[in-house]
Amino acid sequence: MNIKVCVGSSCHLKGSYDVIEVFKEILKKYDVEDLVDLQASFCLGFCSQGVTVKADDLDEPTVKQIGKDELFIHNVNKDNAEELFAKEIYPLLNLK
Ligand code: FES
Repeated sequence: MNIKVCVGSSCHLKGSYDVIEVFKEILKKYDVEDLVDLQASFCLGFCSQGVTVKADDLDEPTVKQIGKDELFIHNVNKDNAEELFAKEIYPLLNLK
């Protein structure tokens, strides 16, 4: 899976650097650093919706299960990043 944090100018101003740093810690904490490629991304096209994070490169069963091959999360900040990761992204890894 890729997790792409938008670092376009709008998201950058809203704290995407902090979000990336927090995501690094979260991936360590959940021991999924080998399963997730954390990347910075150019503008993802949702500039008015706070820092946007996209999860893609999902495995086939996950794509079938959720009916799409990518997930966008908006209004991410350093304070809600872990909660959003745990609720929205971690389940997509299909770990037991
Ligand atoms: S700058 Fe992040 S979505 Fe446009």
